[in-house]
Amino acid sequence: MIILGIESSCDETACAIVKDGREILSSVVSSSKDLHTKTGGIIPEIAAREQVKCMIPVINLTMKPACAGRQCSNVTMNHIDAIAVTVGPGLIGSLLVGVETAKTIAYLTGKPLIPVNHVFAHLYANWLNVEQPPSFPAIALVVSGGHTELFLMKNHREIKWLGGTRDDAAGETFDKTARLLGLGYPGGPAIAAEAAKHITYNIKHITKNQIKLPRPMMHEETFDFSFSGLKTATLREVNKLKTISQFNNLTITQLSFEIQEAITDVLVDKTLKAAEKYKVKSILLGGGVAANLRLKEKIQFIIHNSKFIIPAFIPPPSLCTDNASYIASFAYFHNHPIPWQEIQARPDLEVEVG
Ligand code: KG4
Ligand code: ZN
Repeated sequence: MIILGIESSCDETACAIVKDGREILSSVVSSSKDLHTKTGGIIPEIAAREQVKCMIPVINLTMKPACAGRQCSNVTMNHIDAIAVTVGPGLIGSLLVGVETAKTIAYLTGKPLIPVNHVFAHLYANWLNVEQPPSFPAIALVVSGGHTELFLMKNHREIKWLGGTRDDAAGETFDKTARLLGLGYPGGPAIAAEAAKHITYNIKHITKNQIKLPRPMMHEETFDFSFSGLKTATLREVNKLKTISQFNNLTITQLSFEIQEAITDVLVDKTLKAAEKYKVKSILLGGGVAANLRLKEKIQFIIHNSKFIIPAFIPPPSLCTDNASYIASFAYFHNHPIPWQEIQARPDLEVEVG
């Protein structure tokens, strides 16, 4: 089965063609993130206008059979069995562009249209282009700009939500603390790049990072998360350093390192505790924050050195951040088309699981 996926929930305009939920035949992503760098966050109006500008060219490029330097589909609209589209959650202006485009394609071609929940769909990046797909039961962590959610997946249909953030999401914390440090948007890659400088500096000079930040809720029994205290603690450190004229390149690097350590420590700890408790066969990560190399390194290190050998699936960075191939993959495994007339953009869509 060949599915054409469309994604436009935030600042990425994306389209992909995926075969049987696992093989990417073509995938194109256009991002307006550079336009939001100066403001340190997304301006919804600008993101929506960029969606309008990019949607048709991105779909055209995805469908183009002859293409250099990227995968080629060699499929035409006749080969497509269904259309999948992100209906939520996300920014209303951005979502509307993808949803209305997908509805138009479904109307014109008569093909089935499958609505997709963006948050849960992130996890399906783990089924793409892998030799061996994840085994169930699995513990699945979605860490994106707006979500931090932990699930127990017994199979594709039986999914239990174990916990989530009570305030800021992990990605949001990277973005907000990066803004406090004067680093651009998106904050995750910016903080990761600064933190990497600290690691290099440390090896050369054997210095100790004097800055310590909290690991909120890490030792509590619950699988909930809370990151707003980390943001407040960072603000306090920044203000303290500014009053003693010590807010400089070195301390920005040290703060970045500690922010990344704090966020990844909490994510790793809760995910592995859940994996141990439910005796799962795989651990799945998805969402933009899963592109963080330190997070991957810590999970792999702990698994390698523990008595529980559980395979951890972490998609390559390009499949962690927003794209349409996991939208199409999700639609293959959750193939519930509904008439195009009934499909609507749902900015506040929640993850509906049992
Ligand atoms: O999944 P995503 O692309 O969009 C949403 O669905 O939200 O996630 C975006 C988030 C942003 O908060 C961004 O700062 C974060 O993912 N992110 C990262 C990295 N790359 C993107 N966070 C940490 N390390 C990264 N390398
Ligand atoms: Zn996303």
